[in-house]
Amino acid sequence: MQTMWDNPLKFKRIEVRPANGTIGAEIRGVALSQPLDDATWNEIRQAFHDYLVVWFPDQPLTHEQHLAFSSRFGPLMAMPQLHSVDGFQDIHVIRRDADDTGRVVGENWHADSTYMAQPPAAVIMRAVTVPDFGGDTGFLNMVAAYEALSPTMRQVVDGLSAVHSATRVYGSAYQAQKKQVWSATSVKTEMDVDAGDRETVHPLVCTHPGSGRRFLYVNRVYVQRIDGMTDDESRPLLQFLHDHCSRFELTCRVRWAKDQVLVWDNRAAMHKAIPDYVGRARYMTRTTIAGSRPQSAKAPTGDIT
Ligand code: SIN
Repeated sequence: MQTMWDNPLKFKRIEVRPANGTIGAEIRGVALSQPLDDATWNEIRQAFHDYLVVWFPDQPLTHEQHLAFSSRFGPLMAMPQLHSVDGFQDIHVIRRDADDTGRVVGENWHADSTYMAQPPAAVIMRAVTVPDFGGDTGFLNMVAAYEALSPTMRQVVDGLSAVHSATRVYGSAYQAQKKQVWSATSVKTEMDVDAGDRETVHPLVCTHPGSGRRFLYVNRVYVQRIDGMTDDESRPLLQFLHDHCSRFELTCRVRWAKDQVLVWDNRAAMHKAIPDYVGRARYMTRTTIAGSRPQSAKAPTGDIT
């Protein structure tokens, strides 16, 4: 059987180099600093849906060009917990100084802000300063994670929903333990504890509004329990799903270089910042694309299509 990974040559305007047979592709042959014609944009969008994570080496962009490319994916959204670049409210900063000992942002497998009623659809990140080693980002394909379950387990999870909140990130669970404070250069310290504890329920299996493919929607950072179950009842199933959704063969690992621009799907992919560059500086800027409410069945949403 031929998969989309066997045929990157279907792209005529861009060169697509898959990272492996599961997730991620490097794209060459396009200058993101320039306005994109529709045919080129359609291929980038298709590659994004096929591979979930795409990156473009050697793209020195101004902040304005970063915003212009990002807005092809949809409306930008605020990320109140992240600092912005001066003068650019919609460009957020992921920064770690060489002497920073705070907790690295995003070091556990997660999708961003799944505790929101309408979590982000995508993130476009640009590397400004990269360490001389380490600081890669891992990505994991949640469509492949769903498809790797047995038919019986798929039937079980298809009917369930999960309760999400940011309590362990900045709500009362975080305040109660506070063993490791966040790196203050990226994350704002004055966070709203009540908002962190607010709970939102999303289906455990969602349908991607762009590709129509079904994916597991669960992560260790924000999911608290299975909706309608006690913590004790939820724990074994969640433990299984979290272990399943960290299998190495579902992942790719992206090495950053200065001026690399990367787009990740924040619905059907999880990501993980790898905190292995102690004593080195790393500085990224990112924009966030607004998403719709995750749906179990395919529904028209106006998201990236
Ligand atoms: C994040 O989780 O938003 C940060 C990812 C990274 O720094 O690689």
